[in-house]
Amino acid sequence: MHNVREICEDSWWLGASDRRLELFENTYPTPAGMSYDNYLILDEKTCLMDGTDEAVMLQVMENLEYLLAGRKLDYMVVDHMEPDHCRMIPQLVERYPEIKFVATAKAFELMSQFFDFDVAPHAITVKENDTLELGHHTLQFFLAPMVHWPEVMVSYDQLTGVLYSADAFGEFGALGGNIFADEVDWEHDWLDEARRYYVNIVGKYGLQTNMLLKKAAKLDIRMICPLHGHIWRKDFNLILDKYVKWASYEPEVDSVAIFYGSIYGDTAAAADILAGKLAERGMRDVRVYDSSKTMTSELVSVAFQYSKLVFACATYNMGIFDSMRTLLDDIAAHVLKNRVVGIMENGSWAPQAGKLIQAQVEAMPNMTILEPMVHLRSGVKEANLVEIEALADALVSA
Ligand code: FEO
Repeated sequence: MHNVREICEDSWWLGASDRRLELFENTYPTPAGMSYDNYLILDEKTCLMDGTDEAVMLQVMENLEYLLAGRKLDYMVVDHMEPDHCRMIPQLVERYPEIKFVATAKAFELMSQFFDFDVAPHAITVKENDTLELGHHTLQFFLAPMVHWPEVMVSYDQLTGVLYSADAFGEFGALGGNIFADEVDWEHDWLDEARRYYVNIVGKYGLQTNMLLKKAAKLDIRMICPLHGHIWRKDFNLILDKYVKWASYEPEVDSVAIFYGSIYGDTAAAADILAGKLAERGMRDVRVYDSSKTMTSELVSVAFQYSKLVFACATYNMGIFDSMRTLLDDIAAHVLKNRVVGIMENGSWAPQAGKLIQAQVEAMPNMTILEPMVHLRSGVKEANLVEIEALADALVSA
């Protein structure tokens, strides 16, 4: 049974959602599931814009056959070769033996690495600005290498003004019928998951994302169709303004996010005291997170969102407490930069966390570490309160 929706002239959404998925890329928790978008243009030629994930492949195949209504599939544009959009390629070759795939040379290299069929007879290789005529519609291709795989391109329909944007502008979360961002309270309900998706999937590649945004700015875009999440047909600045900030590692919120790694609660208590001192000084929107409780992908996303970060952490096995170590490693892997940082350490007999965190933060680009570091030696003592007050003053002034 089919589940499709017309999005504009001759163009259809035929995606599907997986609500059972626990971890996207076997890494990122997806408590609200995951959507996989793909699109079909029905012109003199038929053209599928990307494929889908193995988990929802049967649904998408049914959608495709319904929309084709007995026609053959002439083309599939492969904007990139990641398996969440490409697992159906061998099945498409089997069902539509004359199908041609339209992709970059690098994508065809990867296609041969993933699959056993002879790719060459099915390959139409495109480069920057190349076009593909479908009849009334003409697709134009723009390369977006390392957003977030090397072979990525995006496709622009010159007739409808649709930008098929690959993973750019994607979101975590299953869709519920409302496939357009203007059909939901996107800022309230979806922005956080769009940020978490961007930061974790693409966040390392801000430079390359900025290059794509510059190319996109020259196009007359009337719709943005990503591979995950909602389609944009109005209010583009809601998402574009965020992307400009995220890709430039600019914070959205000028306030403090405190992350603590606490084994028995003393470091957590110090983090809460600091948060209260910040509030007393008039700072709004302060947040406190337990690095052992909140998923790391969300914490990294918050680190991108906030201008000032505090890492409060116990010493464990002569090092940084595990969940905080994971968080710091992940922040470093996503190349966060340009933040103000405060550090609070705890260690009952051989404190090490502070100096190790400091070294890790110093290795990140353009981070400013504030004085003083707070040194707990188990519970929070009067001397610590003095340090915490001083750190609060420094955070407010920074
Ligand atoms: Fe949604 Fe890069 O795959």
